[in-house]
This record gives sequence, C-alpha cells and structure tokens, in this order.
Amino acid sequence: MPHNILYPLLLLLFSCDCIAEDQQEGNKVQAEGTEQLKVEKFQSELAELKSTVSSLKYKLQVTEEQLKQLRRNEYKVGFGATLGSIGNFGPFSAPVTLVYSNVYVNEGSAYNPNTGIFTAPVKGAYFFSFSGHNRSSKVLNLGLFKNGEQMVIVFNNPLGDRYESTANSISLSLEKGDCVYVRLRETSWVFDNNSHHNSFVGHLLFAL
Ligand SMILES: *[C@@H]1O[C@H](CO)[C@@H](O)[C@H](O)[C@H]1NC(C)=O
Ligand SMILES: *[C@@H]1O[C@H](CO)[C@@H](O)[C@H](O)[C@H]1NC(C)=O
Repeated sequence: MPHNILYPLLLLLFSCDCIAEDQQEGNKVQAEGTEQLKVEKFQSELAELKSTVSSLKYKLQVTEEQLKQLRRNEYKVGFGATLGSIGNFGPFSAPVTLVYSNVYVNEGSAYNPNTGIFTAPVKGAYFFSFSGHNRSSKVLNLGLFKNGEQMVIVFNNPLGDRYESTANSISLSLEKGDCVYVRLRETSWVFDNNSHHNSFVGHLLFAL
C-alpha cells in the first residue's frame, strides 16, 4: 500500500477508536450517575426509617409507662386507725400486738381491725406511720413489725410525770402477703382515750 493512503487510513481508524472510547466513557459516567442517585435515594429512605423507628420507640416507652400507671392505680390500699378509748394498756411480760379498732378508712380492706394486722395485697412500696402516748413517768415502747421482725420503734424514757407523745414513720418494700403491725414492747405502757393519741396508718405508694 502506498504511503499516501496508509496514513489517512490509520488516522481514520485511530479517530474511530477514540469515538468508541468516548462513547464508552459517556455510558460509564451515565451509569455511575444512576448508581449515585440510587445510593442517595437509599440513604434518604434509611434516614426516614431511622427516624420512624426512633419515634415508634418513644411511643412504645410512653405506652409502657401508661400501662405501669394503670397497674399502679389498679390497687387502692390505705388505712388509718386509732386505739381510741382503751385507757391504760400494759404492761405485759411479752410483746403484745396493738389492735387499732377505731377505723377511719380501710380502702382495700388490707388492715384487719380485729387483729391489728395489715396484710399487703400486692408487692409494692408502702408507707406506715404510728404514734404512742402516755405519761412519761413510765416507759413507752412500741415497735413496727414486718413478719415478726422489728423495723422501727417509738420510745420514750420515763423522764417525769407529764404526758408525752412520740411518732415514727417509714416506707417499706413488701411482698404480697407480708404482714405489718405495731407491738407494745414488754414492760411498757400506752394510753389512749377519745382524743385519739395513738394512730396506725398505712398506704400503698405504688405496686412494684
Ligand atoms: C399512762 O397515762 C395515763 C394518763 O395519760 C396515766 O393515767 C397512767 O398512769 C399512765 N400509765 C402509766 C403506766 O404511767
Ligand atoms: C385524754 O387524755 C389526755 C391525757 O393523756 C387528756 O389531756 C385529755 O383530756 C383526754 N381526752 C379525753 C377526751 O378524755
């Protein structure tokens, strides 16, 4: 082949090659662009999903809290009672459970006014308070008991011939069936009359 033909022919082939490459490059850029769009779409969908999940999580927490509240309100437990007109009570050689028979309120009937014993109807946190009164010429000693174990006491030393009152309160965690009551400790005294100096009070704060 003469040179004068060969050169233009090579040139032509070469340019054809370049055009083909350019086209391929173009397709590639287009494909990459589409991929990029897909990724962006996927990312925005993911972000949306994440925010939906987190708002659902929050709603679930609120619902769980509301359920707990409902459970707590299911039980209405509270009592308040006094010894009333028993006059002098004591002393005895052994501890005696005090029967607060003068009942003001006994919601849920968990307090037994015949025995003086409160029985927890549900596992929960409970609040109790009790008081003692007598002349301080004699020892006044009361204990709040849970299932036979003394939790807290009220105590008054015999300091003089005057009337004295003392009170204590505590919150306790109770299992269903736990018993709480007040005992007059051995060799001590308590006095009450229609002024109602001696009270025993218990409330369920919340179920656990
Ligand atoms: C308890 O107090 C009453 C009056 O409040 C009194 O008459 C009685 O003697 C007192 N008891 C004792 C043991 O001191
Ligand atoms: C009850 O006893 C106290 C002394 O402990 C006395 O001051 C009060 O007057 C008495 N109340 C009644 C109603 O008898």
